[in-house]
Amino acid sequence: MIDYKKIIAAKINVPLEQKELLSMITETADDAFGDYAFPCFKLARTMHMSPVQIAEKLARETELDEHIVKVQAVNGYLNFFVNRIELIWDVISDVFAARGKYGDSDVGAGKTVCIDYSSVNICKSFHIGHLSTTAIGSALYKIYSALGYKVVGINHLGDYGTQFGKMIVAFKLWGNREVAEREGVTELQRLYVKFHQEEVVHPELTEQAREWFVRIEKGDAEAQELFEFFKRITLCEVKKIYDRLNVKFDSWNGESFFNDKMDKPLQMLRDKGLITESQGAQVVELTDYGMPPCLLVKSDGSSLYATRDIAAAIWRKQEYDFDKCLYVVAYQQNLHFKQIFKVLELAGLPWVKDLVHVAFGMVSLEDGAMSTRKGNVVLLKDVIDKAVAKAGEIIRDKNPDLADREKIAEQVGVGAVLFSALENSRIKDIVFSYDRILNFDGETSPYLQYTCARCNSILEKAGDYKNSKESGDYRSLDNPETLRLVKLIGSFPQAVRDAAAKYEPSVISALLIDIAQAFNRFYIEHRVLSDNIAEQNARLQVVEATAAVLKRGLSLLGIQSPDKM
Ligand code: ARG
Repeated sequence: MIDYKKIIAAKINVPLEQKELLSMITETADDAFGDYAFPCFKLARTMHMSPVQIAEKLARETELDEHIVKVQAVNGYLNFFVNRIELIWDVISDVFAARGKYGDSDVGAGKTVCIDYSSVNICKSFHIGHLSTTAIGSALYKIYSALGYKVVGINHLGDYGTQFGKMIVAFKLWGNREVAEREGVTELQRLYVKFHQEEVVHPELTEQAREWFVRIEKGDAEAQELFEFFKRITLCEVKKIYDRLNVKFDSWNGESFFNDKMDKPLQMLRDKGLITESQGAQVVELTDYGMPPCLLVKSDGSSLYATRDIAAAIWRKQEYDFDKCLYVVAYQQNLHFKQIFKVLELAGLPWVKDLVHVAFGMVSLEDGAMSTRKGNVVLLKDVIDKAVAKAGEIIRDKNPDLADREKIAEQVGVGAVLFSALENSRIKDIVFSYDRILNFDGETSPYLQYTCARCNSILEKAGDYKNSKESGDYRSLDNPETLRLVKLIGSFPQAVRDAAAKYEPSVISALLIDIAQAFNRFYIEHRVLSDNIAEQNARLQVVEATAAVLKRGLSLLGIQSPDKM
């Protein structure tokens, strides 16, 4: 889009640095008062005039041209009116020139971003608690890729810990392969829950579990084989969900990958005098920083989650030489990340500043939270299935003759679930409600998809308008509804960059909602298909640009847009 702020800044002759001047020019909230405004209040002292006088003086001095067609001084503000026909034309041609990739750029060329997300746990069900990390991480993956970054998606699997000793004991006592193959993680979970119940009455199980865990650590063949079996069953199940959600990873190196990669980092921390002994355990003291010590080696010699994360950060830096490494993990782990970032900082690693904990809030269903140990979890698969089924019902009611209804219901249901984790600022807790996320008239992804499909159907009715002899008459677009819509479309590329800079896909989702609402207002006020072909052709371009941006925006959020709905 034309850089109007820059054009305006060049016209304002005041004693201010160019940069500051630029930062003071803002978009007006109401198009009736112009498109950009410059407040004169700050200048009163240096210019020895009142803001009102300054604005009036500047208004008289400002030269108009083909971009800026009118200036007005209002209560100490200098308001600028841009050539709106030019603005609309400019935005629409940018959208068309981008060929479906509007908002893409190469600002990230040559830079690498690692994104640690989803990071599921072996033997544990893929429950709704993993929805946000999966949706946000995957959206950030797509957003950074669109900006030209090389992105490495990492699923840091939770595949290490004493719980696998318990799993082996439980499986050998009460499980069998056939059932586990058939029932998948549900069966593994059942065994895990049973272990905890039985352990209360049979304390010897605890010791057995510990022994099996040691055998896993030592690489014992039977222990290893069983562990791999559990891993295969879990991954087979989660990969089906990733396929449905269109989520991809470049690395599945999880906690156990670092089994043999912790000695060097630990030695490095020791050499730097950071590690102290505390009751047989090795810790890094963090009292000076208002945190409990970071426990790295237990008294029995085993390592911890934090030890593996420290090793992982160092390994990733060596392997990928990242410019940034994001951890999309719930805010419950705030302390964990603060601790490991601090330990790495104390170790003097200069790239610690590039590690970012991208925290998010909790998801719960309307009926409350969940606990894995007690076994009452809400499976993500069930949530998706239910959303897809409900989407199917709604679509059947709205459009009984729609072809490909199943496929579209899948796209709508999956989209609604993903969007529920992307619509608000990520730190907010979410209470999940099917009715809300599937409301076709609400601020939801079905609403966006539906608006996009509506644009498509208008375009389809219009036929091959681009080859029409009459070119579009842009004068018919000079009205508040079109201007508002096109300005929002024009702000999309900046929203993509902001979403990346703030690690906040909701910047895009919020803009898409605004665009869809502005489109629907435009559509109510201005008949697109009309007898005046020149006007019609101009409006069709607005419709086509809207569809393109909605589609691109949704795809950056990992959501597909059906052509028809
Ligand atoms: N598996 C962990 C969990 O489910 C998340 C791991 C996040 N990544 C990391 N590098 N610690 O809570």
